[in-house]
Amino acid sequence: MEDIAQYDVAFICVPVWWYTAPMPVFTFLEQYALKGKTVIPFCTAYSGPSSTLRDIEAATPNSTHAEGLCIVTKEQGGQGMEAKHDRIDKWLMKIGF
Ligand SMILES: Cc1cc2nc3c(=O)[nH]c(=O)nc-3n(C[C@H](O)[C@H](O)[C@H](O)COP(=O)(O)O)c2cc1C
Repeated sequence: MEDIAQYDVAFICVPVWWYTAPMPVFTFLEQYALKGKTVIPFCTAYSGPSSTLRDIEAATPNSTHAEGLCIVTKEQGGQGMEAKHDRIDKWLMKIGF
């Protein structure tokens, strides 16, 4: 186990697998007490987040949550990914980073 006591904020960044986060991520969230920390969900997906961002929030009921973001690759067919970086920058600024 890693010592995560020193961190106040945890970005949980995942690829969407079968409409949610990969199962090892839920195992991680079960094993590490993120109680009292701020959890911020982020995902990448081909077609959409489905319930991924909500599922990460539901798996961390004792944490505070900031608004998450999903980057959907289908929207641009893998082209123009710099526009996605711009969205990430704007999102981070919006949530205070
Ligand atoms: C096993 C598996 C399941 C996936 N399920 C979904 C899905 O339900 N919805 C979706 O939009 N993308 C799905 N994808 C696409 C991934 O979300 C996409 O490949 C990933 O976000 C891009 O990150 P990567 O470059 O690390 O693969 C799936 C990919 C894999 C390998």
